[in-house]
Amino acid sequence: MIQSINISTKLYVGKAKDFKNHKDTLLELISLMPSVGVENVSKSDWLLASTFDRLYLTYFYKHIGNSYMCDLMVKLKADNWNIGKTWYQQYNKGSHHTYHNHAKTNFTNVFYLELPDTNYKTIIKDDSGEKISYDAEEGDIITFPAHLLHKSKPNGDKRKTVISFNSNFLYAQGENNDIQNKFNNGV
Ligand SMILES: [Fe+2]
Repeated sequence: MIQSINISTKLYVGKAKDFKNHKDTLLELISLMPSVGVENVSKSDWLLASTFDRLYLTYFYKHIGNSYMCDLMVKLKADNWNIGKTWYQQYNKGSHHTYHNHAKTNFTNVFYLELPDTNYKTIIKDDSGEKISYDAEEGDIITFPAHLLHKSKPNGDKRKTVISFNSNFLYAQGENNDIQNKFNNGV
């Protein structure tokens, strides 16, 4: 028999730095990408070879992604971070992505590059199958445990664009890096 014991975990919502200054450039760089759809998502680079040159990604890391991860690392009292696979998804009218989760990563993240209607933000379920209630708008980045099921429901009339990435936060171990003291819980 397996018991379930409730624990608390969190979903994080942050603002992309200087979002308004970067939105148009990122959309322009994404528009240069070859048109590849995946399942019911209108356009994505998920299926493109990892060696394909992604200018939008270089720009995203430099201006938004890296600073977001540094800020969240400080909030989580971690010592380092890394980003795994990163990809974009564009949703035209009716385009959607069914429930799924992400393996081999602690967190997954969604940056709302274009979200004209917040009703179409990512739907996330907790471990009990309940939908998680949260507020986010265009320009926000959300971070949540990667095992949680999440989806994009069929999109409305206006295009939605997200940049998604998997990430981890790392804690230094050893005699000189006493993790317990960071959290002051004395155990
Ligand atoms: Fe996902």
